[in-house]
Order: sequence, then structure tokens, then C-alpha cells
Amino acid sequence: MSKAHILIGVGGGIAAYKVCSVIRHYKEAGHDVRVMPTKAALNFVGAATFEALSGNPVSTDVFDDVDQVAHVALGRQADLVIIAPATADLMARAAAGRADDLLTASLLTVSCPVVFVPAMHTEMWEHPATVANVATLRERGVTVMTPASGRLTGSDTGAGRMPEPSEIAAIGDLLLDRADALPYDLHGVRMLISAGGTREALDPVRYLGNHSSGKQGYALARAAAQRGATVTLVSGATSNPGQPAAVDIVNIDSARELEAEMTQRAPEADVVIMAAAVADFRPVSVAGAKIKKKGSDGPAPIELDTNPDILAGLVRGRADGAIPEKTIIVGFAAETGDADGGVLDHGRAKLRRKGCDLLVVNAVGGGKAFGTEDNTGWLLTADGHETGLPFGSKTLMASRILDEVASLVPDVTATETAATQSRADYPERNR
Ligand code: CTP
Repeated sequence: MSKAHILIGVGGGIAAYKVCSVIRHYKEAGHDVRVMPTKAALNFVGAATFEALSGNPVSTDVFDDVDQVAHVALGRQADLVIIAPATADLMARAAAGRADDLLTASLLTVSCPVVFVPAMHTEMWEHPATVANVATLRERGVTVMTPASGRLTGSDTGAGRMPEPSEIAAIGDLLLDRADALPYDLHGVRMLISAGGTREALDPVRYLGNHSSGKQGYALARAAAQRGATVTLVSGATSNPGQPAAVDIVNIDSARELEAEMTQRAPEADVVIMAAAVADFRPVSVAGAKIKKKGSDGPAPIELDTNPDILAGLVRGRADGAIPEKTIIVGFAAETGDADGGVLDHGRAKLRRKGCDLLVVNAVGGGKAFGTEDNTGWLLTADGHETGLPFGSKTLMASRILDEVASLVPDVTATETAATQSRADYPERNR
């Protein structure tokens, strides 16, 4: 989309200052940005800041500029609405369909994707009233981001921290690309995802590594968590992949560490996705001290051993009963194509060889895929379906991969509504 109309609602929470970066993101991308703070939000950030950043006037009340009928005009023209921070009160008013200020009135006139980005104390996030309001909003097709866990205002820590501005922007950008990219359809699905590149130590200062940025695996974790999945991300080396909210991250270095984490965690997962770029070889031995060149100028004698094939091992584990039979296993194929065949030919052969349920094939090398923001490729299923993945952001590609994954998970609880699922999460004290 070339120039979109982005409406940013700001609730009255301390995280309001962080939304300034989201406003900048959309302004710098060339979009028309309108900021609608609540009156309470202006206690945290002044209207002048929002006006300067967005380049547009700011008002809070339907009775400001009555002749312009702003709530109808701005709501109707919006291509994306982001509300951050979304306070408990703001979500309650939106869920009830109230129209007692310009922002809530505008929400009743929009027909574009709407993202609420909650930020509040854990007790407020877990309160049955908030849980019910979130469920109501999700049932209406609104995206309510699952907040991060971490430092809250004061000395508190817990669930309720506003996701980082770059994560909010990644979700907003995804919905601009594809309005239906984030159905809340993976609630209760446990996903184990690997990402990034492994590093195989040579000595205390050097390693064999690869160009993986981790961006595709992180994008999968980001989108899966916002579709309701419980996500564990086992991460090797990465470069600026973002910090997906509500995702547990486990860091590893080598292929063997990755294998240990994946093998131990896979029996508890419904879906396992191997997006990591695993080194096929590692040095036979790791020198205890820095290897010296000792005046030699010929090829260095580094002997390599073969690393375990983790994906193939997981498929074997499923056949052996160590991993439940219903677990969905997804692999990636990074191919350049060569004299023996094109990217897709190699992908088909790899799917047969690895025995996974779904293989994401993408072309790498020549500036493609590794480290870039965009990706393209194919989805190959074990039963012979082949789907092209149109060129787009890695988060967009992740959303299409997850559509396929969701169709393979036998008990994605399609029969349960988001409301009943969320209510099952009520803390004991509130029952
Ligand atoms: N993979 C793995 N363990 C390895 C190598 C790869 O689990 N030792 C996984 C990757 O995470 C990916 C898939 O296998 O999901 C394919 O990885 P890729 O590097 O494309 O293929 P290889 O198995 O290494 O095969 P080749 O090098 O012959 O292309």
C-alpha cells in the first residue's frame, strides 16, 4: 500500500511515551498519521508532541471541530487503527460500544483492521472484566496483542507490559499487507520454533557460523503468539530480528545445544518448526587456547565432523514414539539451485528425505532471504500440495505458513470460541 491513513489512538497509561516511536515509524514510511489521544493520555504526553510527530492536529472530544464530524471522517478513511497503550478502561469502553470521546466514537465508524496494544498491571490484565472485554473484542475480529511479560511501572514485573514499538509496527504492517493475517485461531497450541544460525566453536575466540539473521523464525514466533499460540523460541545467533512479545526465548550456540533443547522440548509441543540454519559440520575438536598461525601461509588444517540432522532426528523420534504421533513437524529448505536441479526440485527431494509434514522452501544466496526483510518461496506438504508464497515481508510469509500449520493441527480448537478459551484462563481468585 503506497500511502495509507493510519489512526493511532493513545490511552492514558505510562507507556504512552513509547507510542511516539510508532507514530514516527508510520510517518517516515510516508503514511498519513492521525493521533487520537484520550484526555487521560494527555496527562502523560502533550498534544504538541503528537501534533509535531504526526504533522496533524490532535483532538480528544467529539465536540471539538464539530463542523468537521471528525469521528466519522477519520474513522471512515482509516486503513489501520492502532491503539497503544490500550488501557483496561479503553478496552472496556470499546467492548461496550461506548462513544464518549473522539477515539471510542471513531472506533464505531471504522471498517479497517484494528489493533489494541494492552499495557497494564498484571492484576488488571487478568481480571475477569478485562478478560471478557478482550474476548469480546477478539470475537469481533479485532486484534488484541498479547502483552509481554517484564518490568511494569514501579517495582512490579509480570504480564501486561506493552510490546516494543518495533513489534507493534511489525503487527500493524502485517495487517496493512493482509487484513486477515491474525485470526485468534492458535489458542492452546504449543509451538516450539528454532531460529537463527548455529555457531560451532573453533577455539575460545573463533567459530564457524552462517549468515542467518533469524528474522523468518522470529516472524513465525511473533505471528504465532499473536494468534494465541504458546510459543517457545530456541534461538541461535541472529541479527536484529526484533523482540516478539509473549514468546519464551531460549538461547543456544551450537547445533548440538540446539539438538538437546529441541529433543527435550518437542514431546511437549503440538507443532515443531525448524527454521534455524544449522551448521552441517563442526570442528572435530575445540582448541582450549587461541589457535596460532605459527608462520604457515597454506590452507589451515581444520578437521570437521558431521553434526546431527536435528529435523530428521525429530521425525525419527515421532516414529519411535518419543514424540507424540499427532505432533506437526515443519522444516525449512534454504536452496540456491545448481546443475542437479532448481530450488523447487531440491525442495521436493528434501521433503521426501526429511519426512516432515510441511517444508517451507526458499531461495537463498545472491542477496535473497538471508538477512533481508522480505522473502518468497513455496510451501510443500507431505501429501503433495504445493503453494507459492508471494513476495513480501517475513511476517507476512509467517502468517501464510501459519495458515497451513493451523489447517494441519488436528485439534486447533475451532469449536471453542475465543471467549470460552479466555475465560478458562481466569485466575482462581476470580472464579
Ligand atoms: N536441519 C537440521 N539439522 C541439520 C541441518 C539442517 O535440523 N544438521 C534442518 C534445518 O533447520 C531445516 C532443514 O533441516 O529445517 C533443511 O536445512 P538445510 O540447511 O536446507 O538442509 P540440509 O539438511 O543441511 O541439506 P543440504 O545441506 O544437503 O541442502
